[in-house]
Amino acid sequence: MSSTAVARDVFVTHSAEETIERGREIGQRLRPPVLILLAGDLGAGKTTLAKGIASGLGAAEEDQVTSPTFTLVHQYDRDVRVYHVDLYRITSPQDFETLGLEDIFDQSAAVIVEWSEHLRLRTDWPIVRIELDHLSENERRISVEDTRDLL
Ligand SMILES: Nc1ncnc2c1ncn2[C@@H]1O[C@H](COP(=O)(O)OP(=O)(O)O)[C@@H](O)[C@H]1O
Ligand SMILES: [Mg+2]
Repeated sequence: MSSTAVARDVFVTHSAEETIERGREIGQRLRPPVLILLAGDLGAGKTTLAKGIASGLGAAEEDQVTSPTFTLVHQYDRDVRVYHVDLYRITSPQDFETLGLEDIFDQSAAVIVEWSEHLRLRTDWPIVRIELDHLSENERRISVEDTRDLL
């Protein structure tokens, strides 16, 4: 029998390297298909965490993962496929349509979304929701909410 449960984890990191490492641990626990939503202000560490997640998933080395702020979507394919999307500049449904992401949930991938508040797609994929808060110059609070179905 399966039931839906929500697992929560909140921790504080003290450097970008530590955030990458915690991201890697998160990525190692994930399997496609999975949607990872990253919320938090500019400089909160979303891209930094995404480097670790993509690396932990086995899709890319952390230093290959760069911010898709201007390109909007990056794709990494190694052991698994990862789409890394930044919706910062996408503020209208018309903008969103230009991304051509309609079919993204038809494939087996991990989709990491920065500024997920701007996401305008629905999916029945499992979702991991992560919020990053800027506490001080080098401290970030990272709250992970995992809504995947747990057996
Ligand atoms: N604990 C930390 N976690 C993540 N980034 C940190 C941390 N401390 C300092 N930083 C710095 O904060 C910035 C975060 O930038 P980035 O990951 O691009 O944020 P975002 O994608 O949310 O705009 C980087 O310059 C990084 O080096
Ligand atoms: Mg970013």
